[in-house]
Amino acid sequence: MINTKTKLFGVIGHPVAHSLSPALHNWMLKHFDFNAVYVAFDIEPRLLRNAFKGMQAFGIAGLNVTLPHKASVVDYISFASPQVRHLGVANTIKYTESGLQGYVTDPYGFTESLGSQKEKFQDASVLILGAGGSAQSILYALKDLECSEIMLYNRTFEKALQLAAKASEQLGIGSVSVLHSEQLKDAVNDAEIIVNTTSIGMHPDTGNPLPFDGILKPSHFVYDLIYNPLQTPLLRMAEKAGASWQHGLGMLIFQGLRSLQIWTDTDVQLNSNDLELLTAHLIREMQNS
Ligand SMILES: NC(=O)c1ccc[n+]([C@@H]2O[C@H](COP(=O)([O-])OP(=O)(O)OC[C@H]3O[C@@H](n4cnc5c(N)ncnc54)[C@H](OP(=O)(O)O)[C@@H]3O)[C@@H](O)[C@H]2O)c1
Repeated sequence: MINTKTKLFGVIGHPVAHSLSPALHNWMLKHFDFNAVYVAFDIEPRLLRNAFKGMQAFGIAGLNVTLPHKASVVDYISFASPQVRHLGVANTIKYTESGLQGYVTDPYGFTESLGSQKEKFQDASVLILGAGGSAQSILYALKDLECSEIMLYNRTFEKALQLAAKASEQLGIGSVSVLHSEQLKDAVNDAEIIVNTTSIGMHPDTGNPLPFDGILKPSHFVYDLIYNPLQTPLLRMAEKAGASWQHGLGMLIFQGLRSLQIWTDTDVQLNSNDLELLTAHLIREMQNS
């Protein structure tokens, strides 16, 4: 029931109409019995300052931040978590009386979504495709997963070089080798794990596959951050090759769970039954949108 004690959470982005976050968070708020609602705010970049003044004036308890605001929000927070300081972006803002706090929950989302697959990363050779915002979060997560080798490939080579340099200088990740396109096939062969952080294969452009058909092996573990569609062309190739694979819905769920834990100062957890129900709920939402 909505009453005078109901707290307000939300997501800000531009555009934000297709965000799954309201469906995700309202499910969790109800499930964990918090007296709160979660809504989407489409905020143009020029109105970001006003949005944060409004957040404080209205006492909006917490916000998720999505594109294009993830980097610019850092200017408005008075406490930045170590991840925000390292990565230069925030996806979770918490209102406190002493000011706004900023966090990044994507690395946690990735790591937690792995479940028992986490063990596969130990001493493994990992190939990351892409060098955008999410590649940075994955690199940060890999820091703690003890893999033996990280290879980075991106369409724009210079961006991969910059990210690799940042990884070693600021994130403390030893060595990341940056690949040219002619090295990609060998790198796929050498890698045990492939993580796609590019938007190749994302709805609605699902007919644009990565050139991996015929080179994936049953021993590969392929993770695609994309969750719409659930099975991208890359993941279909992985299945065809007999490889194990995972889509990005789990990462979305766990980064959201971490935001909720931060906002509510709780350690709420989702068990496997909850995860199944929530995943089915989000799939229905995607099908209906
Ligand atoms: N599951 C989750 O919770 C989660 C979280 C974050 C992101 N994601 C997903 O991850 C994907 C990337 O997000 P992001 O925030 O990292 O985006 P981003 O910062 O815009 O980076 C996009 C990346 O994709 C590459 N790319 C885009 N189109 C390409 C094409 N046609 N051919 C080759 N490379 C292409 C870009 O390469 P260039 O540098 O050459 O442009 C860049 O490396 C999105 O699909 C997003 O939905 C999922």
